[in-house]
Amino acid sequence: MSSPGSARIPQHVAIIMDGNGRWARQRGLPRLEGHRRGVEAVRTAMNAAREIGIRYITLYAFSVENWKRPADEVGGLMGLLEYYLRQELATFVRDGVRFRTIGRTDHMPAGVRQLLRETEAATRHFTAWHFILALNYGARSEVADAARAYAAAVAAGTEQLTDSSWEQFSRYLYTADLPDPDLIIRTSGETRLSNFLLLQGAYAEFVFTPVLWPDFGKADLQAAVDEYGRRERRYGLTAEQIKSGAQ
Ligand code: IPE
Ligand code: IPE
Ligand code: MG
Repeated sequence: MSSPGSARIPQHVAIIMDGNGRWARQRGLPRLEGHRRGVEAVRTAMNAAREIGIRYITLYAFSVENWKRPADEVGGLMGLLEYYLRQELATFVRDGVRFRTIGRTDHMPAGVRQLLRETEAATRHFTAWHFILALNYGARSEVADAARAYAAAVAAGTEQLTDSSWEQFSRYLYTADLPDPDLIIRTSGETRLSNFLLLQGAYAEFVFTPVLWPDFGKADLQAAVDEYGRRERRYGLTAEQIKSGAQ
């Protein structure tokens, strides 16, 4: 956890990758071509994050609401995901990147689930770099899942209601082992969260950029990090308290 006002480089950056469809439409291409180019941008962002020194990067790849898209687009996205995971496993291992997911991944197609398991298992021991893919993710579903698991633990006697606190409850979220995001970026000019990390982002800084996701490169990530570095995170304190180093 970063302390108030500190750290120029965010430890954890989360990105809402948006604008693949518009990128394709502007070029008269099918939406899936935009998603294909989006995968290239994922590779670029991952490398850029390590070069900048960002230890945790979370990418919102598929929301619980995205199932409502046309079946051929959903099918195309699942195919791309499989292709990406197959290609990337060796890169994660080479670069020492731990891969994890957040979301209801048990509802993903069997082929994707198998690849997710393999990739997670092969990278489990890495500690320096962390890559988290939000798949079939929705913050409200996450809270519902966590509340169910918490209630079951209370019923089983492993949790005491008298100890109820955010620290205790947050251990039941998908992000239990992850630090909160310091910076949340959304591309494509939209300025909404679309059900992404609503609780974990309680004290995140936000950067919204008009760049469409397939065009998002290292310079754009660096610009967002620079903007983050100019912000003062106060966590409820006054600016004077931050200057005098009060916690
Ligand atoms: C983001 O791009 C990728 C996913 C949500 C899977 P979009 O597909 O939402 O692109 P736009 O918003 O239609 O341009
Ligand atoms: C959010 O983008 C989800 C992902 C980036 C995976 P959407 O394009 O689905 O969000 P809305 O529908 O514009 O809010
Ligand atoms: Mg969109």
